Amino acid sequence: MPSQNTLTDEAEAFRAALISWYDANARELPWRSEPSTYKTVVSEFMLQQTQVKTVLPYFAAWLSSYPDFKSLAAASEDQVLKSWEGLGYYSRARNLHKLAKDVAAIPDGELPTDAKSWLAFPGVGPYAAAAICSISFSDPSAVVDGNVVRILSRLTADETNYKNSTDAAKSYRQLVQDLLNIDRPGDHNQAMMELGATVCHKQSPNCLLCPVRPFCQGHASGVAESLPRLAKTKFEEVTLNRAWIRSAKGVLLHKIPAAAKRMKGLHELPDLAQLAIPAPQSKPQLVRKRGITKYRITERIHAIPANKLPAELPADHVWVAAEAIPDLPFSGPHRRWITELLETIE
Ligand code: ADE
Repeated sequence: MPSQNTLTDEAEAFRAALISWYDANARELPWRSEPSTYKTVVSEFMLQQTQVKTVLPYFAAWLSSYPDFKSLAAASEDQVLKSWEGLGYYSRARNLHKLAKDVAAIPDGELPTDAKSWLAFPGVGPYAAAAICSISFSDPSAVVDGNVVRILSRLTADETNYKNSTDAAKSYRQLVQDLLNIDRPGDHNQAMMELGATVCHKQSPNCLLCPVRPFCQGHASGVAESLPRLAKTKFEEVTLNRAWIRSAKGVLLHKIPAAAKRMKGLHELPDLAQLAIPAPQSKPQLVRKRGITKYRITERIHAIPANKLPAELPADHVWVAAEAIPDLPFSGPHRRWITELLETIE
């Protein structure tokens, strides 16, 4: 790709090559057939940080539970979190729920159609606003996500060292907008995402099949696969000691309060520190590792007798009968651990 200021005919040829490839190769996805603004919004929320194949079953179940903004607005937060269970990044579910309530409250039902106005809705950042408005209302707003960053860094053979994908995205905002096909902005944006997901892979990009290879300086100079240059994430190791406590009243759980930073409204196994119980030296019942954003967490789950509990339970801790557990919202890992513990110990 030439630099921004010489983009004209070549940009036009790029757009044409990309859109013809998309017309011939776009995957059939449920939010693309018989599209609606609601389907576009739900799919864009679900697809943030999450791959298409993971989203597909959730999208289908969601549409049958909540077919439109109105039914979603009328659902309880517990129901909504339960439907999102296992998809991760739960603030997306809470924001989507709030957005549905905001939409249902618009007096004439008339939705705004431009990306700038959509930024006012909960959970809608520049990426989601551009994606939703270009796809649903042909608003000429270009999207820049991780896929697009990868494509543009390769097209321009950009060997700048960026802190992260968001940092790189900022520097491509103008170029991506200049490249946008304003006759079909939604399809152009989806074509970029599709190219990133199916051809311009992080590792082993399939350059032989790439419709825009003739424009790709990274391919021409043999550096495509090494781009973009993003600093390696520094992971922090964290250990958490949790409690598995059963009594005649059920299993002790912590309901994450609304004031918490993450996972509000979900249930989890209590943290021993919050219960003021020292972590036992003995081998835990279960040890599991997981990653959340930059944290590498070792979860040590100890079976603790109920008589170790303080006389008064700390705030937001509740006894839940084993039979009621399936109906409560948990994150995927907590659901799996609890299922395992219920099967293995009394
Ligand atoms: N990722 C984000 N939005 C998408 C879309 N509309 N189609 C495919 N992948 C996507």
